[in-house]
Amino acid sequence: MHPSHNERPIVTDLNLDVIGKVRWNDSYVLTEQPNLWGDPPVPFVTTAADYFAGDGAQTVLDLPVGDGRNLPELAERFSTVVGADSSDNAIGIAAGRAAAAGYRNVLLLKADVYATGFADASFDGVFCCDVLGHLQEPARAIRELLRITRPGHHLMANVFALEDSTRGVDMVPIGDETYLFDDRFYFRFYDKSAAKELVDEVEDAADLVALEPVTWTEPPHEGYREYEHEHVSWLFTLRKHT
Ligand SMILES: C[S@@+](CC[C@H](N)C(=O)[O-])C[C@H]1O[C@@H](n2cnc3c(N)ncnc32)[C@H](O)[C@@H]1O
Repeated sequence: MHPSHNERPIVTDLNLDVIGKVRWNDSYVLTEQPNLWGDPPVPFVTTAADYFAGDGAQTVLDLPVGDGRNLPELAERFSTVVGADSSDNAIGIAAGRAAAAGYRNVLLLKADVYATGFADASFDGVFCCDVLGHLQEPARAIRELLRITRPGHHLMANVFALEDSTRGVDMVPIGDETYLFDDRFYFRFYDKSAAKELVDEVEDAADLVALEPVTWTEPPHEGYREYEHEHVSWLFTLRKHT
């Protein structure tokens, strides 16, 4: 058992998103691995970068950046990359990786996806990987990410699909396709129509360009899910209205 995990009781009178941010920050305290999520990027960061490049993007955002596995693809293709996360520990690891890679165009900072603090239309492209399925109000987060996306430019994000191999594993059901994993992390899994319903909530702000399944393999994550596993998500691409 990882020393920093599972010793705190669940605090049920707090919003799970608030508890989650504390738990996520704890999960980046590592003793065996140099980072939590491993070195390979998710495959769809390349898809996102292709969309952003097609828009002539210069400044792009990776939120949540986690400990930085998706930064190389962005840092090597765009003039400026902002990586933001609510976890100080994650940002610390991402900063070490960016420095080791010699990236001088990467800015890392703390931000909450519900209230990022960035000005309207700050970014030429926004990449949001593996957090919306952990949030209780994903549409509110998408709306905030669209606020900071430039009109006519793209936001790419994913939600966990019902076919994901981790669905229900070490998870306690707490509602309709919602679970608490390892007493710590909120998960919601989506079928295609539920994913479409989610993006329809922001149809006043953006057009849905694509909604497609993506599958990839993850290495073991210390203190979190300590075996290789497969993920399946619904990946959606939104184009902000001009
Ligand atoms: C599963 S990790 C994914 C990290 C990264 N996108 C990746 O693919 O490696 C989820 C991340 O979301 C961050 N997070 C959770 N709630 C957040 C919030 N409200 N605002 C910003 N980041 C948040 C966590 O700190 C964690 O780094």
